[in-house]
Amino acid sequence: MTSDKIREKAEEIDRIINKYLPKEEGQALTVMKAMNYSIHVGGKRLRPMLMMETYRMFGGDTDAVIHPFMAAMEMIHTYSLCHDDLPAMDNDLMRRGKKSTHAEFGEAMGILAGDALLNYAFETAIRAFDVVPGSGESDAERLAMAMRVSRALRILAKKAGIYGMIGGQVADVEAEDKDPSEVTMDTIKYIHENKTAAMIESSMMIGAALAGASEEEVAELERAGSDVGLAFQIADDILDVTGDDATLGKPVGSDEKNGKTTYVTLVGLEQAKNDVRSLSERAVSKLERLRGSDTESGRFLKELIESLIERDR
Ligand code: IPE
Ligand code: IPE
Ligand code: MG
Ligand code: MG
Ligand code: MG
Repeated sequence: MTSDKIREKAEEIDRIINKYLPKEEGQALTVMKAMNYSIHVGGKRLRPMLMMETYRMFGGDTDAVIHPFMAAMEMIHTYSLCHDDLPAMDNDLMRRGKKSTHAEFGEAMGILAGDALLNYAFETAIRAFDVVPGSGESDAERLAMAMRVSRALRILAKKAGIYGMIGGQVADVEAEDKDPSEVTMDTIKYIHENKTAAMIESSMMIGAALAGASEEEVAELERAGSDVGLAFQIADDILDVTGDDATLGKPVGSDEKNGKTTYVTLVGLEQAKNDVRSLSERAVSKLERLRGSDTESGRFLKELIESLIERDR
C-alpha cells in the first residue's frame, strides 16, 4: 500500500469518516474520546476504500448514500480491533502505531468504546435514508433508493455478527484452548472467512448493492471479497511472524504469544505466500469478469488488491 493514489484515497476517506464521528461533549465524554482516538490513530482504511470503489465501479454517484456506510464500516472494523486487543482476547498493548484503546483509556473504556462504535455505526449507516431527493425524482425512484439502503443495512448487520466477524472471533478464541492437532485447515478457513473476510466481502457487496447491482453481481462480489479477505488474513498471519512492530503498528508475535494455530503454522511461510498470491489473482479475475476492466474504479481495485500481496503493514 505505497502508491500515491492509494494514500490519497485513504486521506479522502479520513475526511469522510471525520464528518460522521461523534462530538466530544457531555457526560459520556470519555467514551467519545476513546472512540475518536481509536479511529484517528491510524489504519489503512481498506474496507471503506473497497466499498467506495465498488460503488463507483457499478455507477454509484450519491455521496450522501455511500459516505455514511463507509464511516459505519470503519467504525465496526475499529470496534473489532478495540475488543480484539482486550486482555481477555489477544491482550495487545499496541494498535495502529499507538497504545491500544484499553491501554490508553483502561479496560472498561476499551470495552465501552467498542460497544459504542458498533452502535454508532448503525446510527450512522441509517443516515443514508435521510438523502434529500432531488426535485426531479419520482416516488418510485425514492422507494428504489430506500430499498437499496435497507439491502445494504441487512448485509452490514449480518456480516458483522454471528454469521460473520463475531462468529470467526468466537472460533479463533476457542481454538486457542484446543490441542494444536485438533485445529485443522477447515477450522482455520472458517476462522479466516468469518473474522476477516466477512467484513471485506460486505464492504464490496454494500458498495454494489447501493449502486443497484443485481443479486448475481452482489453474490459474485461476495466470492471475490472472500478471496481478498482470506488472502488478507493469511498475509496478517505471515506478518505476525515476519513483520516489524514499528511498520506494522502492532506487536509482532502476538499469535505465538497466545498459542494460536495460524495459516503459517499449518502450511509454512512459503506455501502461505503462494496462497496469498493465487487468492488475490483469483479475486482480480472475478472483478475483471464483472465490469472491472472498463472502469477507472475497477482498475484501481485491481491495483489495490495486488498491492496487498506484498504489504508490510
Ligand atoms: C487488522 O485489520 C485486523 C485484521 C482483520 C487482520 P487491518 O490490517 O485492516 O487494520 P487497520 O485498519 O489497517 O489498522
Ligand atoms: C483479528 O485477527 C480479526 C478481527 C476481527 C479484529 P487478529 O487478532 O489476527 O488481528 P490483529 O493481528 O490483532 O490485527
Ligand atoms: Mg485476534
Ligand atoms: Mg489480534
Ligand atoms: Mg493477526
